[in-house]
Amino acid sequence: MKYAIVTGTSRGLGASIAELLLKSGVNVIGIARNQNQHLNQIANKSQSNYQHFTCNLADVDHLDRVIEKVNDQVFKKDTELVYLINNAAVVGPIDIATKYTIEAVQAHMQLNLIAPMITTALVLRRAKHCGVKTIVTNISSGAADRSTYGWSAYGSSKAGLNRYTETVALEQKELNTDHKVILFDPSIMDTNMQDDIRSANPAEFRDVDQFKQYKSNNQLSLSSDVAKVLVDILLDHEKVVNGKYYRIKDYLS
Ligand SMILES: NC(=O)c1ccc[n+]([C@@H]2O[C@H](COP(=O)([O-])OP(=O)(O)OC[C@H]3O[C@@H](n4cnc5c(N)ncnc54)[C@H](OP(=O)(O)O)[C@@H]3O)[C@@H](O)[C@H]2O)c1
Repeated sequence: MKYAIVTGTSRGLGASIAELLLKSGVNVIGIARNQNQHLNQIANKSQSNYQHFTCNLADVDHLDRVIEKVNDQVFKKDTELVYLINNAAVVGPIDIATKYTIEAVQAHMQLNLIAPMITTALVLRRAKHCGVKTIVTNISSGAADRSTYGWSAYGSSKAGLNRYTETVALEQKELNTDHKVILFDPSIMDTNMQDDIRSANPAEFRDVDQFKQYKSNNQLSLSSDVAKVLVDILLDHEKVVNGKYYRIKDYLS
């Protein structure tokens, strides 16, 4: 049996990844604040199971308890492979750094950086204990590699996630484990996150017109197309390269 733990399955890229994994026969555990009934319907029509865990990933104590329960569901006697896909994230707060509130910075970092660090650690720890090969994918962004006016929180959380991922990959390599830890940059997609970006105030986010143009010029990818590339990479699991930064731009033109 193969299992995937996917965060942010209620919509957008996470929903598309979960759907394709289910259709490929992988059992999926989805984690988000809201359920996605469509994934239950997909599972009913396929050979795989879908289970939803409601969790606010910015609440570290709740997350800790939920991941332990998820691990109990996933690491079973007949489990041959586990995927963890840390996808849930927000772009906000969008504004210049001096305007951020402490609460907004804290909530952003908890969701975008601390939650993936905790889930990666808890899942890899259980994987080691159970001896089950595990592949962790952390969803990054081009915003990690350049500074964008108004996005100091988002750029920092994604840059932190990149360094974290590459460090854990190095550790797993040096420890000679079978586990792999990779990054995936989906680039710009037509999801709710882009709605949030386009609705930003130009005084707080200077590139807002450029993002409106991406939408009006049809330059945003469909999350289903992006998810297909990632899922194809993951299903060919022997070929996944530990520590690699996979970028959608290398696959979709
Ligand atoms: N869209 C783009 O253009 C773009 C570009 C580069 C990178 N990315 C990255 O791609 C990934 C997916 O983005 P997307 O565009 O699919 O975003 P989206 O459509 O806004 O979906 C975000 C998902 O994250 C979940 N989420 C948000 N806050 C949460 C919380 N506190 N606790 C639990 N779950 C939470 C949401 O579920 P609930 O609201 O139900 O909790 C939702 O399922 C993100 O890592 C993003 O940084 C996106």
